[in-house]
Amino acid sequence: MKIRKTLLIAAIMLISFIFTTESATTNRVNTPAVLTNVVNPVKIALVSDVHINRGTNQARYMANYEKVIEQVNRENVDVVIISGDLTEDGTPSEYSDFRSLTKKFKSTVYFIPGNHDIGNKKIGGKKGEINFNRLAGYQIYFGKTWFSTTVGNVKIIGANSCLMGSGMKKETEMWKFLEKEMPRKPKLPIVFVTHHPLYEKNIEEKGGEYWNVEPAERFRLIGLFQQSGVVAALSGHLHRPLTNQYNNVLYYTTHPVSFGLPQGKQKPGWTLVTVSKNGIELKPFFIEPSK
Ligand SMILES: [Fe+2]
Repeated sequence: MKIRKTLLIAAIMLISFIFTTESATTNRVNTPAVLTNVVNPVKIALVSDVHINRGTNQARYMANYEKVIEQVNRENVDVVIISGDLTEDGTPSEYSDFRSLTKKFKSTVYFIPGNHDIGNKKIGGKKGEINFNRLAGYQIYFGKTWFSTTVGNVKIIGANSCLMGSGMKKETEMWKFLEKEMPRKPKLPIVFVTHHPLYEKNIEEKGGEYWNVEPAERFRLIGLFQQSGVVAALSGHLHRPLTNQYNNVLYYTTHPVSFGLPQGKQKPGWTLVTVSKNGIELKPFFIEPSK
């Protein structure tokens, strides 16, 4: 009886040790089979929510961005991905400032728009939703609002989550592109990037609100993820970090460049995402916000 009790206590201690160790680390690792094709680790700087503006926060957010660029450059990353809200209001002068600063990255940079650049996702004719003029304004400046690239043995796809569910002509064009880029029987693992996280708390959570991708488009994406070897879905928008996992896909939202939420509690910064055959490692970097 005494031995059994000792064994039980030992088991409880072991389990609590495992849980304590897991929650103490910031790294999250998953190992889908397709990752074994990654010969050399690929280092991605995930940067988001820069909010370049010409208003009262102009100097502060610009200074934050310069600090992040310096940190990223020191890490010798393979590629920089900026997951939207490049600017506050998507004006030509803001785009111009964003472009000048972004040239300071040493590595190749890819970016996609966020709701502050081109408007909120369409959820029923509310103010500030995506429209032709705002989308065109971005495209005139930067071209397409989605991309696909291969870095080492990792494919990285960026998509415009503000456009999803809008019914606009460009949306049809984007889904065609995504279906082509995300085929069955993948050779390389895919890292997928949008501005909005697909979900916050629950894969089946409702839409009609500000923070997530609407359920119809969320499940359309999940279908593509499952067939095409997506290992991670990265995003911004929340202005705070968030990690989830569903069906062997890591869902990760980075903290922002401009300002964290809750204000004063969440420090700004960026995340180094390293993809290797052992899994995906997340390393958050923080900056002292400029006054
Ligand atoms: Fe933002």
